[in-house]
Amino acid sequence: MNNENRSSFTGKIGFVLAAAGSAVGLGNIWRFPYLAAKYGGGIFLLVYIVLAITFGFALMTAEIAIGRKTGLSSIEAFKKLDKRFSFIGYLGAIVPVIILPYYSVIGGWVTKYLVAFVSGGASAAAQDAYFGNFISQTGEPILWFSIFLGITAIIVLCGVEKGIEKVSKFMMPVLIALSIVIAVYSVCLPGAMEGVKYYLMPDFSKFSVTTVLAAMGQLFYSMSLAMGIMITYGSYMKKDVSLESSVTQIEIFDTGIAFLAGLMIIPAVFVFSGGTPEALGKGPSLMFVTLPKVFETMAGGTYIGIAFFLLVLFAALTSSISLMETVVSIVCDKLQIKRTLSCLIVLALSVVLGLLSTLGYGIWAEVKIIGLQFLDFFDFISNSVLMPIVAFFTCVFVGYVIKPQSIIEEVELSGKFKRKALFNVVIKYLAPVCIILILVSSVLDAFGIFKI
Ligand code: PHE
Repeated sequence: MNNENRSSFTGKIGFVLAAAGSAVGLGNIWRFPYLAAKYGGGIFLLVYIVLAITFGFALMTAEIAIGRKTGLSSIEAFKKLDKRFSFIGYLGAIVPVIILPYYSVIGGWVTKYLVAFVSGGASAAAQDAYFGNFISQTGEPILWFSIFLGITAIIVLCGVEKGIEKVSKFMMPVLIALSIVIAVYSVCLPGAMEGVKYYLMPDFSKFSVTTVLAAMGQLFYSMSLAMGIMITYGSYMKKDVSLESSVTQIEIFDTGIAFLAGLMIIPAVFVFSGGTPEALGKGPSLMFVTLPKVFETMAGGTYIGIAFFLLVLFAALTSSISLMETVVSIVCDKLQIKRTLSCLIVLALSVVLGLLSTLGYGIWAEVKIIGLQFLDFFDFISNSVLMPIVAFFTCVFVGYVIKPQSIIEEVELSGKFKRKALFNVVIKYLAPVCIILILVSSVLDAFGIFKI
């Protein structure tokens, strides 16, 4: 499907912005801060950054290069390079199927907050119980989830992503500017310094295998790695565009926004909730509980809140579109059906899976799988299990089957590969060994067999 008329991005900036549109989303603004808060603050940030410049760099380079080399999307790309390894493509294809529904649930929460702020509910949203009351209902979260998923589906169905991407190219810099303003404000709140310290100064006694696993899962998620998406993006990249510096820019962009989001949220947790382990360990609700409190104390906070949730909604939409687009094109190719039908199938499946996630916070709160609610379970399976597995096999595939040299050659079509040595070591030894160790210990831990 993708091959007829494979269009290319015009130049480097087009490629970087499109890939960043997929990468920057709820992962950066909603997921990163709550993980950082939960897993020890500074130590999480440090581990994340180290992983980003080693694992993240090597994997993203490998994925984009595989895409550009073959000119194919994930499943076909692996098949073309070595038939025996097309299973990596299939495994990776399951990931967006799992992520899209619960991503849309969170996207729905963002939509709800935007509308609440627009309709004068800013101070109600700053109350402690607001978020809990909202997600534990049945109808409302389903409504907002359906609206978010519906918008995503309409955009994918009508094929107007390009329009959305244009808007987001303009909105992304605004998001960065606004995030800086809010972060500076948060950091200057009385009592915020404790939080700034917690976030920026690594406390090595908080280091554990779980920290590394959480950071690694977050890295893959945030950079849209280990699910074939970057392979597809790479297949649209022109041969003369510098691959290495594109990867660097996407990483800086993505990590920069995540860093700022942490700075907006974590110090504020100390200001408003005293930075207790309980407040820091809030998980998925952290952003929704904390930020409205920050906005409430700001002059013009309602407007800032509106602008903020609107920008986050756009960032979330560009990501959900790229998730849905990927699933739709796989279903199209595999079932040999029309795009519209494939879109409807994906929509139906996402509604079912998404309903589990919303109801899991409400009437089905008692239902737990390995001790997790549905949403957290889907998140765990995709980020902490499937993505590391896909990443592991990708490393083995590149390191020992097609050999790093083939990727290096692809990168060097567009200039010197400066971090060639680093790439080699990470992809062949460091990443596969670490991923396996972490994966095994975390799965044992999840099933309570072995406590880390
Ligand atoms: N990277 C996106 C984010 O950080 C999420 C995403 C994952 C989007 C996979 C597309 C594909 O929000």
